Amino acid sequence: MVDVMRGDWLTTGPRVSEFEEAFAARVGAKYAVSFSSGTAALHGAAFAAGLGSGDEAITTPMTFAATANCVLYQGSKPVFADVSADTLNLDPDQVSSCITARTRAVLPVDYAGHPAEMDAMLELAERHGLTVIEDASHALGAEYRKRRTGSVAHMTVFSFHPVKHLATGEGGMVTTERADFAETLRCFRNHGISSDARQRQAEGQWHYEMVLLGFNYRLTDIACALGLSQLKKLDTNLSRRREIAARYAAAFGDLAGIALPEVRAEVNPAWHLYPVRLNLKSLSANRAQIFRALRAENIGVNVHYIPVHLHPYYRERFGYKGGEFPVAENAYERLISLPMFHGMSDQDVEDVIKAVRKVTSYFAR
Ligand SMILES: Cc1ncc(COP(=O)(O)O)c(C=O)c1O
Repeated sequence: MVDVMRGDWLTTGPRVSEFEEAFAARVGAKYAVSFSSGTAALHGAAFAAGLGSGDEAITTPMTFAATANCVLYQGSKPVFADVSADTLNLDPDQVSSCITARTRAVLPVDYAGHPAEMDAMLELAERHGLTVIEDASHALGAEYRKRRTGSVAHMTVFSFHPVKHLATGEGGMVTTERADFAETLRCFRNHGISSDARQRQAEGQWHYEMVLLGFNYRLTDIACALGLSQLKKLDTNLSRRREIAARYAAAFGDLAGIALPEVRAEVNPAWHLYPVRLNLKSLSANRAQIFRALRAENIGVNVHYIPVHLHPYYRERFGYKGGEFPVAENAYERLISLPMFHGMSDQDVEDVIKAVRKVTSYFAR
């Protein structure tokens, strides 16, 4: 880190390709292209997939708005499809029914770190000539049918925001098997210029060409040095998150008031979030009251997510009124994310368990 600060580059220097190569190796992908955030990485992937005006891309309402916004950045239309009730990941049957002649891409999200149904998505893509962009912002380190997330979709997007498994402050990455996607992504994140400053210096020439309309979405050498050191801790962080999930599952198995997140047999989730769903029939309080009671117990609960189509921007622009995606909307009314981060001590975990048991028994019907 200090070496980078004292070095010549600060931005696109040697640590960038080192981090990209180490990251690609870790997730089992051929190429990894870094970006200044997960959102910028999503934008790059939407661009590389060729999304443009008049196109549509199908995604889930159960995500952070950035997943759908990247489609809008390209002048295309995000089309939402409902989720499966167990995982809250995109339901392939719903996706299938949304495909039109204008559909160009599908953006499944690995909600909470549980990989989406990728085989079904890839099969639909194959049949209809679509690009699959997996938003794996929650799922670094997850596995889908023994394949590492990052090596499955046509392009996979990761975020290195501080709450994620690997943090660089802000940062993101796209992984892919395809050389043409990797080249477009590298160009797009650098103003659309087809070579970088280091390459030009090495070749001793001043000439460069801007070949497409890109942005400055570069990740700095400083951030990449952080990324390299964080990558070494990934396995430890992942095991800690898996331990915490197992402890929660053991502690809450008997509680009628909450349903635990379900895990399908074919995946190994990365547990970015631990979202429980309240069984409102067994409780005399609604989600807001339970949420406030847990906050009053000093537990940092949250809600992931307000379905994207219900945000004012999407309501106003596309006329959503609520009721369009019943599985996602019903889940949203009942969701509470319990604290889940690798720095939690055993005592922190026991404090959460105690508070959840106290609050749900107080409101038990
Ligand atoms: C599912 C999902 N996609 C995209 C993003 C955007 O990533 P970033 O904050 O790195 O721009 C997030 C962010 O937290 C996210 O949770």
